[in-house]
Amino acid sequence: MKAIITAGGKGTRLRPLTFTNNKHLIPIANKPILEYAIDTIKNAGIEDIGIIYNDNLQELKDFIEQNNNFGVNITYIHQLSPIGLADCVRVSKDFIKDSKFIMFLGDNMLASDIKDLKESFEKDTVNHSYLLLTKVDDPQRFGVPIFGKNKELIGIEEKPKNPKTDLAVVGIYFYDHHVFEAFEGKDKITPSKRGELEISDLHQYLIDHGYKINTYNVTGWWKDTGKINDLLLAQRLILEKHHKFKIESPIKDTVIEGDVEIKKGCRIENSFIRGPATIGANSEIISSYIGPFSSIGNECVVTGSEIENSIILDYSSIIDVGYRIDSSLVGKNSRITKKNRVPKSLSTK
Ligand code: G1P
Repeated sequence: MKAIITAGGKGTRLRPLTFTNNKHLIPIANKPILEYAIDTIKNAGIEDIGIIYNDNLQELKDFIEQNNNFGVNITYIHQLSPIGLADCVRVSKDFIKDSKFIMFLGDNMLASDIKDLKESFEKDTVNHSYLLLTKVDDPQRFGVPIFGKNKELIGIEEKPKNPKTDLAVVGIYFYDHHVFEAFEGKDKITPSKRGELEISDLHQYLIDHGYKINTYNVTGWWKDTGKINDLLLAQRLILEKHHKFKIESPIKDTVIEGDVEIKKGCRIENSFIRGPATIGANSEIISSYIGPFSSIGNECVVTGSEIENSIILDYSSIIDVGYRIDSSLVGKNSRITKKNRVPKSLSTK
């Protein structure tokens, strides 16, 4: 089996950060979101992975090559513009050939592994697709299944105003090669009102053309990290279950409470760090408080400041900020300081 991971898109819900950074490379607990997807696929035993990109190839390549391709075969697949998830399937045809495959949305994170499902789908001679479902509070944001009288799947609606269930279709889809038929012939799927080839229309095509789809309810948490609150919640869940943290730098006059990871080359002085929290390599934490569910990237400087439940990206400085930075995502190379003259304000310059 093969897998494709979507790593392009516009990232509109995470602007302005995504004007300069690919959202799939935003770290959660100091590990880029995309790496969680690669790990899940690799752990399922898949070694051929296609990464779908738009205009962001170099940044993705640099990251993947720095990590020695994560020990798998990576193929980069170009989608000319981000015109929908079904279009990501369409452009992957040459890479997939007639193999069965998984499409994994690169901004989705799943706590459970998919090894058993992958093995079952590989052997399955009845079903053409597996879809994963999970209960959500806001089904209007997702693809939502519709079931018939005998609980059989009869439709999928994309972002319905009045959802018929409280289930969302998770962004991890299993297909066989029949899926490519949806792009051919007179009843092929066409762009939606927002101009995209919708993944839910692709699923509806399969249902309407007699292809069998099996659905599975996901156990454990799942997150579509499209918005900042989802990123923070995902980080919380990851940090909560992490219990193998190491402190690899010397600590001076500092209290450490709970699970705290500190990478090599850091200077930690006169501070209070309450875990779960992680601090990247070569960062300085001086006279500061780092609270639960925080991640501080590599090469950051935090002095005289307080941070909690936040994600601070690499090379940022947070200097003498008199208020606690809470539930925030601070972009790469940011500098936040407090001005000592009037008007009193916080500034990112
Ligand atoms: C996409 C799909 C939606 C699916 C969701 C899962 O939505 O269109 O059907 O439920 O991913 O993450 P998007 O996140 O692009 O709005």
